[in-house]
Amino acid sequence: MITPWDVSDNVDYKKTMENFGIKPIKDLLKDIENPHYLMRRGIIFGHRDFERIIKSMKENKKFTVLSGMMPSGKMHFGHKMIVDQLLYYQNYNTEIYIPIADLEAYWARGMDFETTKKLAVEEYITNYIALGLNPNKINVYLQSKNEIVKDLAMKLSKRVNFSEMRAIYGFSGETNMGHMLAPIVQVADILHPQLKEKTPVVVPVGIDQDPHLRLTRDIANRAKEFKFIPPSSTYHRFMTGLLGGKMSSSKPETAIFLSDKPSKSLRKKVMSCKTGGRETLEEQKKLGGIPEECVVYELYVYHLIDDDKELKEIYDKCKSGELTCGQCKKSCYEKITAFLNDLSEKRACAKEIAEEIIK
Ligand code: TRP
Ligand code: SF4
Repeated sequence: MITPWDVSDNVDYKKTMENFGIKPIKDLLKDIENPHYLMRRGIIFGHRDFERIIKSMKENKKFTVLSGMMPSGKMHFGHKMIVDQLLYYQNYNTEIYIPIADLEAYWARGMDFETTKKLAVEEYITNYIALGLNPNKINVYLQSKNEIVKDLAMKLSKRVNFSEMRAIYGFSGETNMGHMLAPIVQVADILHPQLKEKTPVVVPVGIDQDPHLRLTRDIANRAKEFKFIPPSSTYHRFMTGLLGGKMSSSKPETAIFLSDKPSKSLRKKVMSCKTGGRETLEEQKKLGGIPEECVVYELYVYHLIDDDKELKEIYDKCKSGELTCGQCKKSCYEKITAFLNDLSEKRACAKEIAEEIIK
């Protein structure tokens, strides 16, 4: 069982798709005019009802994109993937919503509202804008301050009972009532844009959030009086941590943070990445590396190399043994520093805007 609050580091993506009826996105690629690079590269791997969004994109009809976050610490490369997707959607006829899950953080993580808000503004939204999100195009809000969302959550809570919540989330008699409400608030996050305008909604998320989408789709169908269109969704793979396990804000050696500064320690972090290299240089030359098992290669695929041709070249050179991991990690570090330097310049101005947006 994967629940949104407990994700193991080896998710079986294929099984999860089969068990829950998530469809492979690769079957749709031919219908998407200009698919996102994370779709082309198989990182965004699954979807529900994404056909509806493709249709809107084709016909230049308006649709809504919504993806919330629960800030848990500093923002790292794993979190950046959502922004990369929002950047893609902002070029379409869209309205973008970004709920900050401060209620969920309070109920499920024991975080106070002040801390959550500060993290959301100074870390997340600041970086979202520095990464290129258009501040005029986004609706950012705190769950705890959004009366429309809270009102809708109260009404929709009637449409699901405890047995179902327990089956989906594993709640027990010891679970606090707030925690049980958190998914309902998220359902309201996802559905509330339709109170204003009946447009299709897509929710790009990590696979851990799928339980919320299943619940949202069920509730949307049950609450007939609202005539909701059930949300579409897409699912991306999680990035591997630098050392091979999970990438986690609470373990700095496993993640590259967007606020990391080029430094000896950052260099060391990159040079210590788990690679797909062989035991010895000799073996590497003879057998080639295994990019499929390499975190450095993952960094290229997810973040550092836009050009598919350049990526393929590295792949081939790795496989043939022409490239050594030492060289490869060095050039990875250079790409990371270039990226971080650029972002850090943009962040100062972005922070002011972020503070303005969430007062
Ligand atoms: N539960 C999400 C998380 O853990 C945050 C979230 C809140 C969200 N509302 C949402 C995600 C709506 C997608 C859609 O990060
Ligand atoms: Fe990874 Fe690069 Fe080594 Fe290949 S050469 S295994 S891509 S670090």
